[in-house]
Amino acid sequence: MGLLRRSRASLDVDIHSHLIPNIDDGSQSMEQSIEMIEALINLDFEKVITTPHIHPNYPNTPEVILAGLNTLQQEVSKQKLAIEIEVAAEYFVDESFHDRVKRNDPILSFGGKLVLVESSFVNKPIFFEAVMFDLLAQGYTPVLAHPERYKFLEGRIEWLKELKGMGVMLQVTLGSIGGYYGKIPEQVGKLLLQNDMVDFLGSDLHRASHLAYLEKGLNSKEVQRILKRGELKNRQLL
Ligand SMILES: [Fe+2]
Repeated sequence: MGLLRRSRASLDVDIHSHLIPNIDDGSQSMEQSIEMIEALINLDFEKVITTPHIHPNYPNTPEVILAGLNTLQQEVSKQKLAIEIEVAAEYFVDESFHDRVKRNDPILSFGGKLVLVESSFVNKPIFFEAVMFDLLAQGYTPVLAHPERYKFLEGRIEWLKELKGMGVMLQVTLGSIGGYYGKIPEQVGKLLLQNDMVDFLGSDLHRASHLAYLEKGLNSKEVQRILKRGELKNRQLL
């Protein structure tokens, strides 16, 4: 509300969230999904590309994810919510994902051939770069989710510079900038924004308790600066 609300630049498109009910550690009911979608509309989002986990703990298939999207879209249109919902996935990079890439199995991508990937937070898989290389060789562009949150980086960004040099894009999470994940992710996220290393911002919304931090991140001077410069790729997906 007030001046801040009116002068705030909006992101318009979110590329990372867990809004399909009961298929991962995100939304646990249709009511929760709708509550979060209404909040995103209030934050001026026009489109959400939601990204359920494909992870050893959540072994979702494209069929399960597309069926979940269908159910969610039906509810969104029933409730006449003015937002576009699409789907992709957040792929956990492990050997089974590498095998899938090597076999050229179908991958849920967005915006053409963008693929959202995440690493283990604790240890970087030794084959991580090889997986990125194989994705790039197949014409995909990997987008690394929440680079600011990987503990193994211990606050350093050299590895992220190397990935960008390979052609990997980076997606910083708004809640990190808002302080939800602690001091280091906030500092690294802001450093990446200040160094113009961020391709996409995302909500990584799992539950309503994330919303206040998401809004704080959106209102931060670092995010507002980057939004006003118009160099993020989110809006290109409208
Ligand atoms: Fe996520």
